[in-house]
Amino acid sequence: MRYASAFFLLSILSLIAPVQAQVLVGDSQVESLTTSAGDPGRGRAIVASRQIGLCLLCHSGPFPEQRFQGNLAPELGESSAKLSAGQLRARIVDPSRFDRDTIMPAYYKTGNLNRVASKFAGQTILSAQEIEDVVAFLVNLNQKNVQ
Ligand code: HEC
Repeated sequence: MRYASAFFLLSILSLIAPVQAQVLVGDSQVESLTTSAGDPGRGRAIVASRQIGLCLLCHSGPFPEQRFQGNLAPELGESSAKLSAGQLRARIVDPSRFDRDTIMPAYYKTGNLNRVASKFAGQTILSAQEIEDVVAFLVNLNQKNVQ
């Protein structure tokens, strides 16, 4: 019995452990999810990808090569001009923190989700590194806007 509950606890922990602790300061998630820096080039590929990020289903952005872009959400160049890295990270990790009814998926959240197929339970949509890559790409856009 004791072993069974220890096993149960361990399996819960193994689901929770990969998701880093997330502290919000105001509306920012200042701390990076990884120790290695995000890569803007990889971030761009994730945002533009129709398989991984799917951001352009709803957003548009500075992607001249992408013919079909969304018009349900803010243009990403404008968003990155007004939001800091921490604010961007917080919104990509879990936009429902800011609007419970948002249509945007939480890209780095495993708890309190609805109707998750069992094979995806406990998994995030993007990995911690992919989140950091996307944040790096958007911050980079921001610097280009500021120039
Ligand atoms: C299903 C639609 C949808 C998808 C897919 C989506 N978003 Fe969003 N996103 C929204 C909407 C709508 C908003 C406006 C605020 C809200 O409703 O949460 C938003 C808001 C944001 C914001 C804040 C914008 C601002 O100006 O305040 C950022 C940053 C953002 N999204 C980035 C992304 C990134 C990066 C991806 C892909 C990894 C993505 N979104 C995928 C719909 C989406």
